[in-house]
Amino acid sequence: MRSLTFRRPDDWHVHFRDGVMMKTVVPYTARAFGRAIIMPNLTPPVTTAAMAEAYRQRIMECVPAGTDFTPLMTCYLTDHTDAADLVAGHKAGIFTAAKLYPAHATTNSAHGVTSIDHIMNVLEAMAENGIPLLTHGEVTRADVDIFDREARFAEEILAPLLQRLPELRVVMEHITTEQGAALVLAHKHRMGATITPQHLLYNRNALFQGGLRPHMYCLPVLKREKHRQALRKAATGGETCFFLGTDTAPHLRHLKESDCGCAGVFSAPVAVAAYLQVFAEENALDRFEAFASLNGPAFYRMAPNEERVTYVERPARIAEEIEVDGAGKLVSLFSGEAAPWSLAA
Ligand code: DOR
Ligand code: ZN
Repeated sequence: MRSLTFRRPDDWHVHFRDGVMMKTVVPYTARAFGRAIIMPNLTPPVTTAAMAEAYRQRIMECVPAGTDFTPLMTCYLTDHTDAADLVAGHKAGIFTAAKLYPAHATTNSAHGVTSIDHIMNVLEAMAENGIPLLTHGEVTRADVDIFDREARFAEEILAPLLQRLPELRVVMEHITTEQGAALVLAHKHRMGATITPQHLLYNRNALFQGGLRPHMYCLPVLKREKHRQALRKAATGGETCFFLGTDTAPHLRHLKESDCGCAGVFSAPVAVAAYLQVFAEENALDRFEAFASLNGPAFYRMAPNEERVTYVERPARIAEEIEVDGAGKLVSLFSGEAAPWSLAA
C-alpha cells in the first residue's frame, strides 16, 4: 500500500455558500485544507470589504473546534466596484483577491461585469497594489459554442488585458483547455491557474455516460479528451504556475437533478483523494506536494503550511448522499463509490 506525506494542502478555489449549506460543507474543506480562497458569488454577492469581513466571521463559526483553517476572502467585481474600498480592504487584510465573473457566465453571475472596459480603473488599482485578479474565463456571447468559451476568453479578453496591464497578476480559474493552459504558461511570471479534480479525471463523455449525468455538470463544462490530457500534463509537469483549486460547488440534489440543473461539482469530501489518484496514474506522486501545497502559496506570496499530513492508497467508501439540515441532500464526487486514497488514521 503506497503512502504519501506532504505539507497540509490549500484549496485555491472554493464555494461555501451561506446558512445551512455553509454549515454542512465548511467542515469537509476545513479538515482537509489549511487555507481556501472563498468565492464571493452569494446572493447578494460579496462586493464590499464590510460584507467580506461579515462573511468571513460566519464561515469561522462553521469551522470545527480544534481545526486550523483560514478562509481567504475575495471581492465580487461588478460594473460599479468601488476601487478605493477594494484597495482598503486588501490593505486591511480582508481581501486576498478579486473575482471577475463575466455577467451571466455561471451561478449567481447576474451582477457580474458586462465589459472589461467598465472596470479598467479597478483593474489598474489592482495592478498597482498587487491584488490578484481571479477570472472565470469564459465569454458569454450566444454565438460562441459553449465548448469554445474558454479558448475565446483567453484569446479575446485575457491576452489583450495582459498586454494592457503588464503589472496585473492573474489567476485563470478552473482551466479546462489546452489554450487556457498555454496562455498561463506563456505568462507564468505573473499568472497562475487552478485545475479541478473533475477536469483531470473526466472528459465530456462523462456528461452522457449511459444517460444524462447532472452531477458531472459544471462550468466551464467538461471538455474533449485532448484537453483533459493537456490539463494532466500541466498539473503533473512541474510548472509552478499550476495549483490545486477544486471549485467545489455544492448544490442540493433536487436542484441538480432538474429540468434546468445547476452547474457545480461538490468535491470537498474527496478532493485530495481525487487529485492523488490523478498523480498516481501519471506516476507523478513526487510532484504532488508542489501542486497541492507549494505552488499556490508561492503565487499568493504566502508561506506554505508547516503541518504534514499522510494519505494512504486505501480505498474509502463514500456516502451516497449528505443531509443538509432539512433543506435537501448533497451528492459528492465519488458518491456511492470508493475514493482510492484516504487520510492515514
Ligand atoms: O460549476 C460551477 N459552479 N461553475 C462556476 O463557475 C460556479 C459554480 C457555482 O457557484 O455553483
Ligand atoms: Zn467556482
